[in-house]
Amino acid sequence: MTERTLVLIKPDGVARGYVGEILSRIERKGLTLAAMELRTAPTSVAAEHYAEHEGKPFYPGLLEFITSGPLVAAVVEGPRAIAAFRQLAGSTDPVAAAAPGSIRGDLATETQRNLVHGSDSTESADREIGIWFPELG
Ligand code: CMP
Repeated sequence: MTERTLVLIKPDGVARGYVGEILSRIERKGLTLAAMELRTAPTSVAAEHYAEHEGKPFYPGLLEFITSGPLVAAVVEGPRAIAAFRQLAGSTDPVAAAAPGSIRGDLATETQRNLVHGSDSTESADREIGIWFPELG
């Protein structure tokens, strides 16, 4: 089933020069880009995106990090795109959990600065695409 998912290449991914590497992995998997933009997120957008984490100890640092510089926001589509991208990304903790061969497992060391975000369900994807690309809604 064709799905859409919201992908962020976070500020660490842009700063470290991994935009091409990450987009290449997405395209090699067979997923395609439906929308993409480089932008620096305002705190209001970041807070809406990460609303479910409000109150957690890492939330203030997460908002500061995600708004700290340009990121790439993209809508990625294809068969089972949500699960497919999450498998490409690897688990949240790049060292303890993400498998070698995944973006985080290969390229990251910190749980906060873990290079990418991908929606975790169809509901999240709809909500997150609406936040970053309201014109697609
Ligand atoms: P992401 O997939 O974007 O979803 C929430 C983000 O919060 C996660 O990736 C990490 O960047 C960050 N995060 C989750 N857990 C922690 C943690 N324990 N410490 C720091 N950052 C975290």
